Amino acid sequence: MWLLLPIIAYSAIFLYVRHIYSYWRRKRFPSEHTSLSWQFLTLAYQREFRHVEAICEAYQEGRDRLFGIYCFFRPVLLVRQPQLALSILQQSNGHFTESKWDYVKGYRRFNLLEKLSPMFSTKRLSAMFINAQHVADHMMQYLAKREEQGLLELDLQHLMRIYAVNIIGNLVYGLDVNNFVQRDHILNSYVLHPSQYGGLQSFTLRGIPQKSSLTYRLIDIIKNNVEKREENGIIRKDMLQLLVKFRNGNDLSSDKWQIEHAIEEDKLMCIKRLAKVAEDLMHSALDGIASTITLTLYEIAQQPLIVEKLQTEIKELNLKDGQLAFEQLMGLKYMDMCVKETLRKYPPVPIIERVCRKRYTLPGSKLRIGEGKTLMVPLLAIQRDGRYFSEPLKYKPLRFLHNQPDGGEGQQCPSVIASFGIGGAQCVAQNFAKMVIKLALVRLLQSYDLELDASAMVEVSHLPAPFITSPDGLKIQLKAREILRQSNYRKCSI
Ligand code: HEM
Repeated sequence: MWLLLPIIAYSAIFLYVRHIYSYWRRKRFPSEHTSLSWQFLTLAYQREFRHVEAICEAYQEGRDRLFGIYCFFRPVLLVRQPQLALSILQQSNGHFTESKWDYVKGYRRFNLLEKLSPMFSTKRLSAMFINAQHVADHMMQYLAKREEQGLLELDLQHLMRIYAVNIIGNLVYGLDVNNFVQRDHILNSYVLHPSQYGGLQSFTLRGIPQKSSLTYRLIDIIKNNVEKREENGIIRKDMLQLLVKFRNGNDLSSDKWQIEHAIEEDKLMCIKRLAKVAEDLMHSALDGIASTITLTLYEIAQQPLIVEKLQTEIKELNLKDGQLAFEQLMGLKYMDMCVKETLRKYPPVPIIERVCRKRYTLPGSKLRIGEGKTLMVPLLAIQRDGRYFSEPLKYKPLRFLHNQPDGGEGQQCPSVIASFGIGGAQCVAQNFAKMVIKLALVRLLQSYDLELDASAMVEVSHLPAPFITSPDGLKIQLKAREILRQSNYRKCSI
């Protein structure tokens, strides 16, 4: 009898696991032949399992447009073809809803992100630019101090994470924070580690809300600042101001920054919800901004001709008193191509993920994906696929010269460059992201040349945003520039 019990228990577990791992075969989808392996369990136990890399490996297997895989106990459908991903995400009409931004107020239900999107309009961004410039000034003052002390060899990943945290602190939280000098500020806790560190959890338990220990302190910051703006009529041109305007039911698409107050019962959003929006914006923004600047610098430091070309493009702006205007920044064409190329090679959101809410028949087939099942578009793998980009691991900004990436094997496939998302759920803040990324690059390249230690190990992991995991981060020697040499950049073809 005692011997029988473990045998029955073992058999039940075995049959259950086998049942899960045969899901895609039973539904007649092409699928991987996997089960729980000892290697996977060991990596998971040692917290070294990298789910983004595992999904990219699955992308390489076979050639089917759709491929069923298993993320631990979760059946996931991988969409391998960019056009198919585009048509699913554009035309699936509510089959793959994102409930995170759904918001209910009284009898009204709306998508918060749609309502907040005017926050990122060009008009609003150009007004916020002055605050972004203050953050860049803080960075340059910090570097100038290090220059005086002869300390210009530094970890640029760390520097750019501080810059990104300061940008969010200033523009989302409405704080005049400068973490380059204020090392004990609460937001500094986001500098050391990626804010969305996924690891095994994102492979297995997506969708379970996570409360960070910082959340409550961040709510206090928001509460304080919202009260100041509502009670004292303080106007600061930042996102918090627009969030407070929205909370008071004001129209965000108008030009005004003043808040027209609503009585407490008519307010659209409580402080806690507003703080949650700010925290979500921080999580969406921080790693993307920091990694894109860091990895652009990493790539261009290996190709001095690109640096020279960028520096000449900046010089040709003929800045009056060194003052950079928003329009000038956004008009930097070659820098735009460099940022696009970094986002292609290192997309900060390497996998787009959707949960099916209503059974959906996949375009061009009779196959159906069931409610509750996950669909993934592996952006990182697609954007490094030689069928769409020739020499995908090479950093070549001029791929985007005619606003179209070059196709490997002679193909042209503009839809595959989707670092800011595909279909209905694109990044609302892409212009904001480009503004602060380009601003940091302009300010750094205006004043410094870059020298990468050729012997230094630089290892980039996707956690899920790209992050340099080598102990020294991105160690680069900055060299103060004296004069801009006459350039031969127009002849170069990178
Ligand atoms: C280089 C920087 C960035 C990249 C590459 C990027 C990329 C993306 C992508 C691919 C999505 C769609 C995700 C999906 O469909 O599941 C997205 C959504 C979003 N992004 Fe960005 N983003 C960047 C920066 C930012 C910044 C700076 C902000 C805010 C200030 C921001 C706010 C958002 C928000 C609110 C969403 C909505 C998605 C959600 O979390 O539900 N992003 N972004």
